[in-house]
Amino acid sequence: MCGIVGYIGKRNSLPIIMEGLKRMEYRGYDSAGVSIINEKNELISIKKAGKVSCLESELDIDVFNGNIGIGHTRWATHGVPNDTNAHPHFDMEENILIVHNGIIENYKLIKNRLLEEKYKFKTDTDTEILANLINYHYKNTNDFETSVRLALLEVEGTYGIACLCSKEPDKIVVARKGSPLMLGIGNQEMIVASDAAAIINHTKNVIYLEDGEMATLEKGSFHLKTVEDQDIFRDYQVLDFLLDEIEKGGYEHFMLKEICEQPDTIQNTFRGRINFDTGVAKLGGLQSVEEKLYNAKRIIITACGTAWHAALVGEYMIEHYCRIPVEVEYASEFRYRRPILNSDDVVLLISQSGETADTLAALKEARKFGATTIGVVNVIGSTIAREVDAGTYIHAGPEIGVASTKAFTSQVMSLALITLMIANEKKTETPETLIKLANELKHIPEKIAHMVSLKDEYKKVAMKFKDAKNFLYLGRGFNFPVALEGALKLKEISYIHAEGYPAAEMKHGPIALIDENMPVVFIAPQDKAYDKIISNIEEVRARKGVIIAIASEGDENITSYADHILRVPKTLALFAPIINIIPLQFLSYYIAAARGCNVDQPRNLAKSVTVE
Ligand code: AGP
Ligand code: GLU
Repeated sequence: MCGIVGYIGKRNSLPIIMEGLKRMEYRGYDSAGVSIINEKNELISIKKAGKVSCLESELDIDVFNGNIGIGHTRWATHGVPNDTNAHPHFDMEENILIVHNGIIENYKLIKNRLLEEKYKFKTDTDTEILANLINYHYKNTNDFETSVRLALLEVEGTYGIACLCSKEPDKIVVARKGSPLMLGIGNQEMIVASDAAAIINHTKNVIYLEDGEMATLEKGSFHLKTVEDQDIFRDYQVLDFLLDEIEKGGYEHFMLKEICEQPDTIQNTFRGRINFDTGVAKLGGLQSVEEKLYNAKRIIITACGTAWHAALVGEYMIEHYCRIPVEVEYASEFRYRRPILNSDDVVLLISQSGETADTLAALKEARKFGATTIGVVNVIGSTIAREVDAGTYIHAGPEIGVASTKAFTSQVMSLALITLMIANEKKTETPETLIKLANELKHIPEKIAHMVSLKDEYKKVAMKFKDAKNFLYLGRGFNFPVALEGALKLKEISYIHAEGYPAAEMKHGPIALIDENMPVVFIAPQDKAYDKIISNIEEVRARKGVIIAIASEGDENITSYADHILRVPKTLALFAPIINIIPLQFLSYYIAAARGCNVDQPRNLAKSVTVE
């Protein structure tokens, strides 16, 4: 995915666009570019491989002076990340300029047709064909908006686009299908962006474009229509978060800030959603599908990446406490494997961004079979949040760091609330048990705050392993998905190879990897599986593996087995994943920071993968 920004209004567009690109750089940072229409109505454009700062260092702000402009930060899908393939892209005659988020799946077909029409191409991207296709239609229609619309009718795939035209220099034409795009409505000015981070500093009044919609923005106005040329009238919504929520707040990295703010974000997830006296949870957003949920023959949970790890925790929770069969699916596999679904099924879709292409496609697949779809989403107003039958927002606030941390714990807390809701309704747990669970839930924020206060202890251990080449993460039961998530955190920000396994699985092959150079993280709280974990630790020690234990406070026994200990407060099984992931988040963060990695924007990654 990438970041798109456009501005049209009374102010100089460059600083607004550049600020917007910086706020959205976490969405993709292979290259960046900006185009402005200057006072002489000339299209001027600059684009550079690398981050927005590379572009900024080349910019002559006196040249790039005008009230209309578009910008782009790229996450490459077609064509290597270099200056040429960076957006914006011109058409052959340099009349049209376009920035694009998504994939034009039939670009080869269109390109071949345009080549036959003697069109020339300069880049390896799919996007460039769209600029030439708009040019092609402009020759026949002599109308910018119409030529964009006709071009889009030919396109298969996904797009969020913003376009300029030298012959109609007083407007920006935008459109979306599958990649997020929203309009900020200011005072005699309009901003278009991929997400609210680029808009919130200028206006809180926004309109989210839906798939198949387009808009033409002018200095003090806009009009909305479908790509099929149907006019649309839609009132704006008001954004409800503050700019400082997307600032670093004094932390060195967004990731560290987001790890440390989990006592508050986890509280925000359950605030007003559980009665501590009765243990009864209530999620207002699920009201319309409660009966479906309680009577589901099967619950399928589908997601990607960290959200998939949360889904795995959800399986353990719901099967253990609610006795409903649960299947967890990678969204990218679910969407293509012809799953067998029917209207008795409930499909839970977990997504921080609410824009992940594979998860969105899984949603569409589930709806095809008449299954009830429920979203567990963080970004308010995101596509998945708007397209499910019902859903619950996890209220973790904007997560800027590419490596997901607070969203994971809030996703797991949301699944715990859903578990308590179902267990109460189906009476698969006694009221006493529900009250006991609810009262432990109440103390989770302070338990996380306590671990945040231990971060320097965790950092000491991390420093010992900053040069490790491989890591293994092992856990049992509710902590097995934590092992997977801990491994993902480490590998995606420190580039150290790491794998997560069920602890007992070691004997079936991975134990061959153990030697004195292999750090092995055991998630070993004093729970029902403790003795088994100790046996697994012994097996690794016998082969000279280096043991790092996530261990309960007060557990002195573990000191006989572990070389390094990261202490965690005790809790009940339902909340163990939320507690036990915290030291692993810090471990990966401090190792990556010590290695000089770009913690907030790791190489090759993007915050939300809105392409296949
Ligand atoms: C998590 O650290 C990764 N950045 C990635 O795996 C992410 O969880 C995945 O892309 C799913 O994103 P989503 O939750 O926004 O759908
Ligand atoms: N497919 C386009 C490219 O590779 C856009 C990628 C993006 O969404 O940033 O340039």
